[in-house]
Amino acid sequence: MTFRAAPPLSGNVTVPGDKSISHRSLMLSALAVGESRVEGLLEGEDVLATAAAMRAMGARIERDADGVWHIHGVGVGGLLQPDTALDMGNSGTSTRLLMGLLASHDLTATFTGDASLSKRPMARVTEPLAQMGASFTTSPGNRLPLTMKGACPAVPLDYELPVASAQVKSAILLAGLNTPGITRVVEPVPTRDHSERMLQGFGADLTVETQADGTRVITLVGEAELQPQQIVVPGDPSSAAFPMVAALIVPGSTVTIGNVGLNSTRAGLIDLLREMGGAIEVVNQRDVGGEPVGDLIITASALHGFEPDPARAPSMIDEYPVAFVAAALAHGRSVFRGLEELRVKESDRIATMAEGLRAIGARVEELEDGLIIEGTGGQLLPGGGPIATKLDHRIAMSFAIAGLMCHDGVTIDDMRPVATSFPTFMPLLRQLGAVA
Ligand code: S3P
Repeated sequence: MTFRAAPPLSGNVTVPGDKSISHRSLMLSALAVGESRVEGLLEGEDVLATAAAMRAMGARIERDADGVWHIHGVGVGGLLQPDTALDMGNSGTSTRLLMGLLASHDLTATFTGDASLSKRPMARVTEPLAQMGASFTTSPGNRLPLTMKGACPAVPLDYELPVASAQVKSAILLAGLNTPGITRVVEPVPTRDHSERMLQGFGADLTVETQADGTRVITLVGEAELQPQQIVVPGDPSSAAFPMVAALIVPGSTVTIGNVGLNSTRAGLIDLLREMGGAIEVVNQRDVGGEPVGDLIITASALHGFEPDPARAPSMIDEYPVAFVAAALAHGRSVFRGLEELRVKESDRIATMAEGLRAIGARVEELEDGLIIEGTGGQLLPGGGPIATKLDHRIAMSFAIAGLMCHDGVTIDDMRPVATSFPTFMPLLRQLGAVA
């Protein structure tokens, strides 16, 4: 598919539900006793993989005609042995969080995934979960396919995260739900806190203490009983990132994106783009289901290069690919460092972005832990392609946005991965006036 230089973008759009919150709402609802209702669930392939897995382990999950989902949970500790392997598709979040859930159940399960997921490291979860008593037979390099056997009762864990990862934190907390005693996770660098908020919302005994140096200590009392909930999922800020950057870089654009999640552990891109000179106004700030939400009004702006503090990486970890596109069109140089984690996402996002940006004529230097990008100062890039997306939805969408500011457009080899997180991406771009 080819994306071409666009006229000014305009319109009022919404993005689908938050992927992280959608996964968690299905998992926790499946562990509550009784019926939960979820509105605004992301109906993307990753979340559907979580739904299929929870069904395979005994939860009843139904979708109404109006897109509202009902989940009848089995109670904490009540998951059943799945009959067949759990196919996680492209979804690292489904895999790692479900491994946590299963670690404290007396059952055996096999996890499989696509070529991208089968390359991703799982030791970060198998190591702490093994300390809780689970055992794993993995493919070489601690990868999928893997088979695990949970432990019941599991042993509670007191664990300091060696890598800033909400997936690892959440896996341990989910394992702690069916574990007698107190599970504690110490997080030196804060990561997205949807699990903590939602566990509290479902009635788990969970406390968070923030120390003077910013370290967070999360304490969960095990053998929890979860109460069914009514959940409204806010729009995904990681999806909003694409129209947000598009509106800033295409001259003359004004775009409103309604109902975007603004949790501070996720809002790093908005801060960065503002620091680069982007006009992003947040209006109608409100609380939806325990999460801050607002509408964004974005006006095309002359962006300037920037060197973001690596400490903010977790608050925009999935937004770097599209932030690199913004930097490639800004005035001057941007330096992105401290981003080693990007090398183990759906693709190696440092290498894939460097390769793709070069292919469309951007000036980029690849570092071990980031990129240095010389922007065009608002001039169109030459364009080109085909860009290899490597089964990575955010690479596909980032280059689609870049194409809107390229002389010859950008051709992308495979847009199918977009269905994992943002099934309405193409209609939304066309609604704004993009040419593809
Ligand atoms: C997620 C955490 C992040 C993020 C992923 C979703 C989550 O991964 O990249 O898309 O829902 O917990 P890490 O925990 O590996 O940083």
